[in-house]
Amino acid sequence: MATLSGIREPVEKEMAQFESFFFDTMKSNIPFLRTILNYVIRRKGKQMRPLLVLLSAAINGNINESTYVAATMIELLHTASLVHDDVVDDADERRGAPSIKALWNSRIAVLLGDYLLAKGLLVSIDSDRFDMLKIISEAVQSMTQSELIQIQKIKKFNTTEEEYFDIISGKTAALISACTTTGTLSVTGEIQTINLMREFGQNIGIAFQIKDDLLDYSTKGFTGKNARNDIREGKLTLPLIHSLKKASFIDQRKIIPIIKNKNKTEKDISRVVDFVLSNGGIEYTESKMTLYTEKALGCLSGYPESPYKQSLIDFIDYSVTRNH
Ligand code: IPE
Ligand code: IPE
Ligand code: MG
Ligand code: MG
Repeated sequence: MATLSGIREPVEKEMAQFESFFFDTMKSNIPFLRTILNYVIRRKGKQMRPLLVLLSAAINGNINESTYVAATMIELLHTASLVHDDVVDDADERRGAPSIKALWNSRIAVLLGDYLLAKGLLVSIDSDRFDMLKIISEAVQSMTQSELIQIQKIKKFNTTEEEYFDIISGKTAALISACTTTGTLSVTGEIQTINLMREFGQNIGIAFQIKDDLLDYSTKGFTGKNARNDIREGKLTLPLIHSLKKASFIDQRKIIPIIKNKNKTEKDISRVVDFVLSNGGIEYTESKMTLYTEKALGCLSGYPESPYKQSLIDFIDYSVTRNH
């Protein structure tokens, strides 16, 4: 099974270079801001997006200054989106520690998220990469739109499978696709290659979010996030959407009020998990996930063998076998 350290190997030095760029943007003269930024830096996450930017550049050319610009921008915007997401999802844990929202409060999390977002946009402006700014801003717009749609769907409780795919495509795959697109764009202007890599990222991104949604149901592994938060919130993800479709009318009638209930007990949560397990929700979701990893793999078929190609293949694998 692929490991992150194995995937990083061909771009290990470049990842270190990225980190130093990234940490530079996280400096501040304002003591309070510095305290919060240091807290964010200490729990840095898997850094899968910058890794994907670097590998997408390396498979298509030579990593250069603008590759780091893209990687830094994207990791900043990703971090901003997580800080905001924990306010939106009312989540107290992130990366194995209290979320910003939990440790300080929502007001501070909203402002810190805005600060990181602005920082991210400035990185591209300072380097005159307006082409990257456009791609990444569109991805952020798409993330926000999709998170809004998701909130609305939660309330109305009527997400279909098709809508689920639209939501995850917007909220997660758009940014992951921006990684492969801007990484490629940093080394080549060839439009066919850029389009192929965009599609590659889109497919990985969908598989990546399906895995994230499956992890909410898993008992194995340590995600560093509140377990079962999606269920607690009544967020309909594919395992549950499919199970609801499959279940008998009577079973649906029994489970829906439980899912809708805002103050679920541990027993309620277990009942939802059991409902999904007994209706084949996990297997079905895994089969869909595999469909997207195969599509992603297909995008790489025209490339000659190289350590970068191998790492990208392992990246796909890791995206769906990871346990955090
Ligand atoms: C979490 O992304 C948000 C989703 C799109 C599911 P990651 O799992 O990449 O988060 P970190 O950066 O490693 O914490
Ligand atoms: C992805 O959705 C969040 C973003 C795109 C910011 P989730 O709400 O499932 O992400 P986690 O599980 O909190 O990381
Ligand atoms: Mg969340
Ligand atoms: Mg999640």
